[in-house]
Amino acid sequence: MVTVRVPATTANIGPGFDTFGCALALYNTLTFEETPSGYIFIGCDEAYQNEENLAVVAYRKVMDAMGLPMPGLSVTIRADIPVCRGLGSSAAMIAAGASAANALHGSPYTPLELLGICNDIEGHPDNLAPALLGGLVTSYVDDGIPVAVRYALHPELRFTALIPDFELSTHLARSALPKQVPFADAVFNVSRAAVLLKALETGDRAIIARSLQDRLHQPFRGKLIAGYEEVRDMALSCGCTAFCISGAGPTLLCLSFGEAFEQEMAKHMEELPGRWRMLPMAVDHTGVQVV
Ligand code: HSE
Repeated sequence: MVTVRVPATTANIGPGFDTFGCALALYNTLTFEETPSGYIFIGCDEAYQNEENLAVVAYRKVMDAMGLPMPGLSVTIRADIPVCRGLGSSAAMIAAGASAANALHGSPYTPLELLGICNDIEGHPDNLAPALLGGLVTSYVDDGIPVAVRYALHPELRFTALIPDFELSTHLARSALPKQVPFADAVFNVSRAAVLLKALETGDRAIIARSLQDRLHQPFRGKLIAGYEEVRDMALSCGCTAFCISGAGPTLLCLSFGEAFEQEMAKHMEELPGRWRMLPMAVDHTGVQVV
């Protein structure tokens, strides 16, 4: 039996589409026990109680990679990461299943190798890499070879999620994206992304505010999120340094320094259209852990 604790993640972070991700201190905890056959789930919505459960899919991939037969599994889940909200709940299940299989069979793989084995489940590594490695990670997987780099974050930088009471499927949010983008928009994102990474480390607020911009996905997704413009305008007027969609949404992410933004925003939550929850989160620096 093994218990793993896996963090939420926020992906993209403005210009880093499918590339940037950061682990956040909000966790799912899963206990795995191998059984002779079949799958038993405790603490999980009925819709996910089958062999397509992402924790089971990842477990199977790691067993296949080790050349071992897939056993039955009993999986007990305590989930604090909201589902279909852009906070990496799917990647958390993948990281948990992969790490559990690895831990129960002698830990032959590093977290980076688990990324290479499991990346194709989602097809982009920006949530899975920080879920496995912790911290701010940029990554890609090239011909099955995972490449991931961790970046430092300024210690006073704060992440605050604004989470609506509705879901948005990543599939729908990806289907809203164009097949091609203008060359100038690609250059816009590459330049902002490169500058942003350094500014997140140094804590340069003016550069973060200017660089946390995107032309590849947010212009097409904002309209899928009811209240997007009103929430953005309110967050900026309350003093957040920069604002973006968390992953594919619908959670919106505020970057700020000090407590002033959160205190001011808390006073105005009731004025937002619809129901939104404010959740400040520390950065998780360790990624998935066997506990
Ligand atoms: N990079 C992904 C996207 C994250 O924006 O679609 C969500 O899985």
